[in-house]
Amino acid sequence: MTPLIGPANFMFFGFFPAAILSVVIPVIGIALFTYIMARRIAPLVRSAPDNRFDNIPERIKNLIVIWLAQWRQPRYMVAGVLHIVIFAGFLILSIRSTSLVIIGISHDFVLPGFDGIIGNIYNFFKDYAATAVLVACIVAAFRRGIIRPERYAVPAKYGKDHTAEAVFVLGVISTLMISESLFEATELAAEMQHTGHAEFLAPLSLVWIFREMVSGLSHSTLQGLHIVMYYIHDLTFFFFLCFLPMGKHFHVITSIFNVFFMRVKKGNIKPVKHGVSAEELDNLESLGVKKLEDFTWKHILDFYSCADCGRCSDQCPANAVGRPLSPRFITIKARDLIFRNYPLKSDVIYKSKLLVEDIYTEEEIWSCTTCGACEQECPLGIEYIDKIVDLRRGMVDEGMVPQSLQKPLKALEKRGNPYGIMEKKRSDWCTDKEFLPVLPDNLKQRFITFSVFII
Ligand code: HEM
Ligand code: SF4
Ligand code: SF4
Repeated sequence: MTPLIGPANFMFFGFFPAAILSVVIPVIGIALFTYIMARRIAPLVRSAPDNRFDNIPERIKNLIVIWLAQWRQPRYMVAGVLHIVIFAGFLILSIRSTSLVIIGISHDFVLPGFDGIIGNIYNFFKDYAATAVLVACIVAAFRRGIIRPERYAVPAKYGKDHTAEAVFVLGVISTLMISESLFEATELAAEMQHTGHAEFLAPLSLVWIFREMVSGLSHSTLQGLHIVMYYIHDLTFFFFLCFLPMGKHFHVITSIFNVFFMRVKKGNIKPVKHGVSAEELDNLESLGVKKLEDFTWKHILDFYSCADCGRCSDQCPANAVGRPLSPRFITIKARDLIFRNYPLKSDVIYKSKLLVEDIYTEEEIWSCTTCGACEQECPLGIEYIDKIVDLRRGMVDEGMVPQSLQKPLKALEKRGNPYGIMEKKRSDWCTDKEFLPVLPDNLKQRFITFSVFII
């Protein structure tokens, strides 16, 4: 009995080389992914400029703390811990997934540096990583599908529920974990049958469990399973890659950029237009954000990066008191609009309409207190204050002023004050008050100098 034939040397029906499939799947997968990404990048290129290459040390720190260490995740403990497991597992397993693609073409391929002891240590941790990711996905799917925490709910006015997509992706990740582990377990079981001794494996890991389960199967069944699992993994891997830019899991790709370019200074507002001086403002044809492409490229990247977790809305005071504002849906509505305006199927780019008519309401945008709680909470560094202020600038430029401000603004324009009182009546308020005599400034100065001299 010989060990199993790998996908690089296997022949389907005795004549069709499986290696052809091992080349075709990645080539089609990568080509499709490149096309999809080109469509996703189109609105980024057409959007407004924004210099985010300042404060590099601070940005690197954010990358380490917020992206790599997932610092903000455990603020919501259960979801946070589950995510840390999935994220860490993914980082570890991305090495294995990459080498698996090449193993389909070259059987003995080993990533440089991964032969010998390093490879053994890596395999040990990788087996546990796959196990932990599978357990985390099952718990997360149970949470999303059965427990359904309130913060993920989609109010009817914002469209249909997002649970199916969340559970589907958890299923896709689980498929990757199971197929990778079974692919390896069948090979190890065949080797065990061949040599008579079991190779040391991470105890109770998925590969270990699967090897125990399949060790009694015949050689031909193990061979079949080995090849089937390889191509299930390969197809799922490239399907997942192309599926990521279609929705909330785009953050798997964009998060690293979004966190690096996130706002580092607090308490300031974005200028009306980057690179335009205050004197030049009067010459601008249009102010603020009115259509999609008026947002900066970072703000478009924000829309792509949202993981749809609802933490921002959960912390938003306007949302809490029932105002018609949920920051999560400011983002989701914009992302849906980008997908509509830049469809994958054709090169047509629809002319964007005014955002505050098309997807937002005036009341929604005026409801924000610009407190920044949403930004403080978001694990992906997504911004709201600048977007909302820019949308308001666009609305005011279009004459869309909220009722409560219309009167004072008109008065300011007409009388120079928000109360609408005539200028000559400006000092009326003090006629019935008694005041101490006021010393002229130069006398006050002399008095102070004299006192200091005496002391
Ligand atoms: C690169 C690998 C990553 C993978 C594979 C991944 C995968 C996932 C998955 C599967 C979910 C959905 C979980 C669920 O529905 O219960 C999720 C949610 C989420 N991800 Fe990621 N993610 C990655 C990176 C990141 C990074 C780097 C961040 C932040 C910096 C992040 C932030 C989030 C947030 C905030 C959620 C929502 C968590 C919640 O429900 O409260 N992800 N991610
Ligand atoms: S900044 Fe606006 S959207 Fe964000 S939490 Fe405060 S009120 Fe809500
Ligand atoms: S903006 Fe951030 S906090 Fe809000 S739903 Fe999206 S990822 Fe979650």
